[in-house]
Amino acid sequence: MVNICCIGAGYVGGPSCAVIAYQCHDINVTIVDLNQARIDAWNSDNLPIYEPGLDEIVFARRGKNLFFSTNVDQAIIDADLIFVSVNTPTKKTGMGAGMAADLAYIETATRRIAQVATTSKIVIEKSTVPCRTAQSMRTILEANSSKDIRFDILSNPEFLAEGTAISDLTKPDRVLIGCLQTPEGFAAQQKLVDVYTRWIPKEKVITMNLWSSELSKLAANALLAQRISSINALSAICEATGADVDEVAYACGTDSRIGPKFLKASVGFGGSCFQKDILNLVYLSEQLFLPEVAAYWKSVVTMNEYQKMRFTHRIVRTLFNTVTNKKIALLGFAFKKDTGDTRESAAITLSSYLIQEHANIAIYDPKVSAKQIKMDLTEPGVGTNEADVNKHVTVCESAYEACAGAAAIVICTEWDEFKMGQTDYQKIFDSMQKPAFIFDGRLILDAPKLREIGFRVETIGKSI
Ligand code: NAI
Repeated sequence: MVNICCIGAGYVGGPSCAVIAYQCHDINVTIVDLNQARIDAWNSDNLPIYEPGLDEIVFARRGKNLFFSTNVDQAIIDADLIFVSVNTPTKKTGMGAGMAADLAYIETATRRIAQVATTSKIVIEKSTVPCRTAQSMRTILEANSSKDIRFDILSNPEFLAEGTAISDLTKPDRVLIGCLQTPEGFAAQQKLVDVYTRWIPKEKVITMNLWSSELSKLAANALLAQRISSINALSAICEATGADVDEVAYACGTDSRIGPKFLKASVGFGGSCFQKDILNLVYLSEQLFLPEVAAYWKSVVTMNEYQKMRFTHRIVRTLFNTVTNKKIALLGFAFKKDTGDTRESAAITLSSYLIQEHANIAIYDPKVSAKQIKMDLTEPGVGTNEADVNKHVTVCESAYEACAGAAAIVICTEWDEFKMGQTDYQKIFDSMQKPAFIFDGRLILDAPKLREIGFRVETIGKSI
């Protein structure tokens, strides 16, 4: 029986290794974390992550060949393969602050492996890391290897998207496995290929060298985010000219060289990865003395910030240049639908701008708790403090409660339940102040129908 250990029971480690346990009943999977509350939640009926299909998978295998524990050392000792899925946030202080990835968690986990391992291990870099991080991990591990214990290192970046993680993991576009181009490296790579090909067609498992694999993950996220910033940049031109961004996206997306995906204009991308990974690429480019390359990728993030600010300005301008003491309903707080994750959500920036304009905001999200919303809005750097939040923010139990008496609604997340037909916009209109405004930051509403009800509608990428 193969034993797998995954260090880090987060959005990536939890679902990705739960799927391995689900697909391979003869592999023992232990997912470990230092965070006791997170592990307790994984062992409860209320998993710490909302992800469609995740409960079924975890409940089917937990206690059989899937285990969650805080006993990191024992799981390392027992494992043949160890996934390192710890967080790699943007550094907040010191060299590279605001851009470089903070690799402290990776290093701590690697040192722990080196310290407690009593047999040879294949260590798999699952976290998203700057190109050549595997080299540092290897140096730490090799300094602790002996003739009885060897460590092989692989890069296996994760491409799942939150909200569709289980289907992405079950039927991925591809799985990437990078290794050192040595006989030992290839042998280790084959062991991981053998795990994935239990449920993924062979041709979808791509093998390459370590550095290409590491860089491919940063490159993929940078290219995806660049498409969003490109369509968002076009949305500004649409609003100024009378062109319709949905029509432009459709016209461009039908070109098979361009393709239709990731061309949806919005209030801006969020999530824990896009901004972090691009800034990481920017920092890497700067370190490599490639300032033009750094500036090119940096502009993707700059455009995203601009889009959020531009949308807020449009809200304030439309509401007669002041939102002071006006109730504004924010529908959605997660960075996208079908997840409760709020990291880097556009809703945080929007809320902060509106609070600074002294608006009273009523927030509703089907999967984000009031505690999380308040924590996000009082994080250092967001621009709002606890007193502002207590004074200006109410978290509501439904869209109807948030919108009652409001001057305006802002759609921040594209949850299906906010679509026409699922929410009764006539009922909402009747409960609002008049004129009643809706700002659709996600292009999910039918503006003509809303106008028939009596709403004033403002949509990203459309002038009417
Ligand atoms: P997360 O913050 O949800 O989870 C990381 C977990 O690692 C935390 O629970 C933390 O307590 C634990 N941890 C940190 N150091 C540890 C240690 N030394 N020993 C044991 N546990 C430790 O992060 P998430 O979102 O799962 O991301 C993990 C990595 O995967 C990051 O590098 C991220 O960029 C990458 N990634 C994330 C995706 C996403 O959609 N969230 C998608 C693809 C990649």
